[in-house]
Amino acid sequence: MTLRIFPITPEFAAEVGDVDLSQPLSGTVEQAIKAAFWQYGVLIFPDQQLSAEEHLRFARVFGPLETSIAVHQPQAKLRLAAEFADVSNLTVRDQLWGEDSRARLFALGNRLWHTDSSFRQIPAYASLLYARSIAPIGGHTEFADLRAAFDALPPDQRAALRGRVLEHSIFTSRAKLGFHDFAQAERDALPPVQQVLVRTLPQTGRESLYLASHAGRVIGLPDAEGLALIDALTTHATQRQFVYTHRWRVGDLVLWDNRCTAHRGTEFDDLRWRRDYQRVSVADVANSCAQAQLTLGP
Ligand SMILES: [Fe+2]
Repeated sequence: MTLRIFPITPEFAAEVGDVDLSQPLSGTVEQAIKAAFWQYGVLIFPDQQLSAEEHLRFARVFGPLETSIAVHQPQAKLRLAAEFADVSNLTVRDQLWGEDSRARLFALGNRLWHTDSSFRQIPAYASLLYARSIAPIGGHTEFADLRAAFDALPPDQRAALRGRVLEHSIFTSRAKLGFHDFAQAERDALPPVQQVLVRTLPQTGRESLYLASHAGRVIGLPDAEGLALIDALTTHATQRQFVYTHRWRVGDLVLWDNRCTAHRGTEFDDLRWRRDYQRVSVADVANSCAQAQLTLGP
């Protein structure tokens, strides 16, 4: 069977049919998937039946894998292997989490617009999220096309943003929700990192904003001015014309490019419904400043 691509818009998000990701893929199919991935930024593979190993094997097509940040939390027991981010509302005993559980409060950060792991020195390149069980209502994932958002800015503003560097920290996004409950060892394990604000994607030559709720400072600007710029750009980039909302079905695997998209989860009744999603992320080749060959600021 030949791989089929069904674009949702001409440039952003596409469904991919007639491919079984539980099987090893030929080089031709892998290249076709990568070409679509670079063009559309978000790919949806419906009706997949994947074991954990098959999910990991498909992710490795895109490069070396990240390990979950939960391994930095020494008290946290993992429900899944270390290569997986557990995007569920379940405890290690497979029960719904409690209203005041730490995991629940931490996961509320996923409701804010972000790109995965921009708070790490080497951020995530691709993420592959697989739905094993879904909430019947709510719990969608929204994706914003940060390339289109950059292209829509006036030329003088695009010129002013090129070369800007932002500071990202996981504790910045959590602080926005009033969550400050971290041990010093956790903070030490994930110090703030710098990332460029405008990325150029090597495979297509397209430019993209690179924005996340993890960003808290613009290097070289007073704190308040930097926060105002981050807020204004996030508001611009997440207008409806740049956003695709994915309504999940069981068996969907969604693959996205963290270099040029932002995403957030929408609300659902997490104390009532089981939502079991598992994510694998592929590490980028280097820090985004290093990729842009910029000198890191203070
Ligand atoms: Fe995420």
